[in-house]
Amino acid sequence: MSDILVETLDGVTTLTLNRVARKNAITADMYALMAGALVDAAADDACRVLVIQGHETIFSAGNDIADFLNNPPAGPQAPVFQFLHGIAAFPKPVLASVCGPAVGIGSTLLLHCDLVYAGDNAVFSMPFVNLGLVPEAASSYMLPQLMGYHRAAEVLLMGEPFMADTALEIGFVNRVLAPTETNAYTQAQAAKMAKKPLSSLTESKRLMKAPQQAHVQEAMKNEGQVFSAMLTAPAAKEAFGAFVEKRRPDFSKL
Ligand code: COA
Repeated sequence: MSDILVETLDGVTTLTLNRVARKNAITADMYALMAGALVDAAADDACRVLVIQGHETIFSAGNDIADFLNNPPAGPQAPVFQFLHGIAAFPKPVLASVCGPAVGIGSTLLLHCDLVYAGDNAVFSMPFVNLGLVPEAASSYMLPQLMGYHRAAEVLLMGEPFMADTALEIGFVNRVLAPTETNAYTQAQAAKMAKKPLSSLTESKRLMKAPQQAHVQEAMKNEGQVFSAMLTAPAAKEAFGAFVEKRRPDFSKL
């Protein structure tokens, strides 16, 4: 079965991360599939609302580190950046259902979703500095906006995770549910939304997003350049090597 499942039913297109044995770590091939699915869903009249979901035990471990080492994203056409641009500019409403760990892009992609429902086992982390990298998905801009600079610094400079209750308190998620109920609740909300007039949904979303859009695009462009350059620099090499070798990284000389 594919690592990304795409299904459209009654106006709702659902993208399911389906690589649970590898904690839904996302490879370049998976980014390409998701980017393609977003292009298709945006153009498909049968899709009125999009849902992104994982499994009740894991949303996503973020970038697949081994795949990143072997196929580092080369330039703005790389699948990861195509996916990020696709989700940031997706014109129809996007709902996310998040249970278990949501690491790196597993958390930052949520900044581009309109409604986020979380299981009470959700753990959000953006440990880019621990990997010798920098934030992506415009999180360097959007996270301080959302939670305030100092809290964002805890997340982005300390790499500290936060739990579902904090996510609810700071407005990162809409509601916290039992993990076994989260995907079903999200689907029910999406079905409800899909019955509303599509033009009102897309125009309302466009109006809400418009004041931020240029800043978001600019942040993504800047982050992408730095991220790509740092991916092959010594700190990231040490971090990724340590992950593969299951040891602690040593940044003492970097
Ligand atoms: N890339 C590649 N493989 C990954 C991965 C990733 N991002 N995350 C997990 N895996 C692999 C593990 O290496 C492990 O493989 P193994 O069975 O061959 O040893 C398998 O998936 C299961 O992961 P494990 O760490 O044993 O699961 P866990 O439930 O204890 O922890 C996480 C889950 C997500 C908290 C943990 O795997 C993790 O922190 N992963 C790395 C996250 C990360 O740094 N992502 C990059 C962000 S840019």
